Amino acid sequence: MKRNRRLTALLGSGLLAVLLLVLSGPVQAAKEKYFDRSGRLIVEEKPAADLLRPYQAGNREPEKTFPVPAPPFSEGIYPCSDCHGEMETNPQRRELEDMHTDIVLNHAEGQRWCLDCHNPDDRDVLRLVSGETIPFDQSYRLCGQCHGDKFRDWKVGIHGKRTGYWNGDKQYLLCAHCHNPHDPAFKAMKPLPPPVRPGEARH
Ligand code: HEC
Ligand code: HEC
Ligand code: HEC
Ligand code: HEC
Repeated sequence: MKRNRRLTALLGSGLLAVLLLVLSGPVQAAKEKYFDRSGRLIVEEKPAADLLRPYQAGNREPEKTFPVPAPPFSEGIYPCSDCHGEMETNPQRRELEDMHTDIVLNHAEGQRWCLDCHNPDDRDVLRLVSGETIPFDQSYRLCGQCHGDKFRDWKVGIHGKRTGYWNGDKQYLLCAHCHNPHDPAFKAMKPLPPPVRPGEARH
C-alpha cells in the first residue's frame, strides 16, 4: 500500500515534468547584437539560454558577455589607430596642444593620466591595471576596477539602464553613455528663473 503510493507520486511528478516541458515549448532563439572593433553591427542568432550566460553559475567570463550599443564616440575619432598607428606614444604627463585639447581630466587626475586607461601600444583598445587589453564596448570593466559597487549594481540592472527581457535579449548602456570618463561627475544643475506671468515684466 505504502509502496503503491510512492509509485503514484513518482509517476505523477514524472508526468508533471513532461507536461511542463511541453508547455514551455522549444527553447527560444534570440538575437544578440554587438559592435565589432570597427564599429560594425553584428547580429547573431543564439538560443535564448545563451543570453542568460552572465547569470549562470559556471560562466567564468561573465564580464565579457553584456550586450551594449556602440560606444558613444565623437564622429571620426575611431579607430584611433588612424592617427596613432603611425605615431610614437608620448607617455609624458602634459597638457595636450595638437589634439584632444577638449579633454581635461577631472577624475582623480592627481593620481593618474591618460595611459592608465588607454593602451599605449594599440590605442584602439583600453587597458586594465592587470595589463589585459579590452575593447571599448567592455569599458564597464575598466570602470568596475575602482567602482566595484556601481559595477555590481549595473550588472543586475539597478544602476544605469538595462532594457529588454528578463529571460532574453537585453541591452545595457555603457557607463560612458551617461558619464564622461574624463569628467564623470554629474554637474549640479543651475535652477531656472521662475516663469513670468502674462502681463508681468521680468525683473
Ligand atoms: C578613467 C579612464 C580614462 C582616462 C584617465 C582617460 N580616458 Fe580617454 N576614454 C576613456 C574611455 C572609457 C573612453 C571611451 C568613451 C566612449 O565609449 O565613447 C575614452 C574616450 C577617449 C577618446 C575619444 C573621445 C571622443 O570624443 O569620442 C579620446 C580621444 C580619449 N579618450 C583620450 C584621452 C586622453 C588624451 C586622456 C588624458 C588626457 C584620456 N583619454 C584619459 C577612459 C579614460
Ligand atoms: C586625428 C588624429 C588623432 C586621432 C583620430 C586620435 N588621436 Fe590621440 N593624439 C593625436 C595627437 C596628434 C596627439 C598628441 C597631442 C599632443 O602631444 O599635444 C594625441 C595624443 C593622445 C594621447 C596622449 C598620449 C600620447 O600618446 O601622446 C592619448 C591617450 C590619445 N591621443 C588617445 C586617443 C584615443 C583613445 C583615440 C581614439 C578614441 C585617439 N587618441 C584618436 C591624434 C589623434
Ligand atoms: C583607477 C581607479 C578609477 C577608475 C578606473 C575609474 N574611476 Fe571613477 N573615480 C575614481 C576616484 C578615485 C574618484 C573620486 C575622485 C574624483 O572624483 O576626482 C572617481 C569618481 C567618479 C565619479 C564621480 C563620483 C561622485 O562622487 O560624483 C564617477 C561618476 C565615476 N568616477 C565614474 C567612472 C567611470 C564611468 C569610469 C570608467 C570610464 C571610472 N569612473 C573609472 C577612481 C576611478
Ligand atoms: C543610464 C545612465 C547611467 C549609466 C549607464 C551609469 N550611470 Fe552612474 N550614475 C548615473 C546617475 C544619474 C547618477 C547619479 C548622479 C547624482 O546623484 O548626482 C550616477 C552616479 C554614479 C556614481 C556616483 C555615485 C555617488 O555615490 O555619488 C558613480 C561612481 C557611478 N555612477 C559610476 C557608474 C559606473 C561605474 C557605471 C557603469 C558600470 C555607471 N555609473 C553607469 C547614471 C548612469
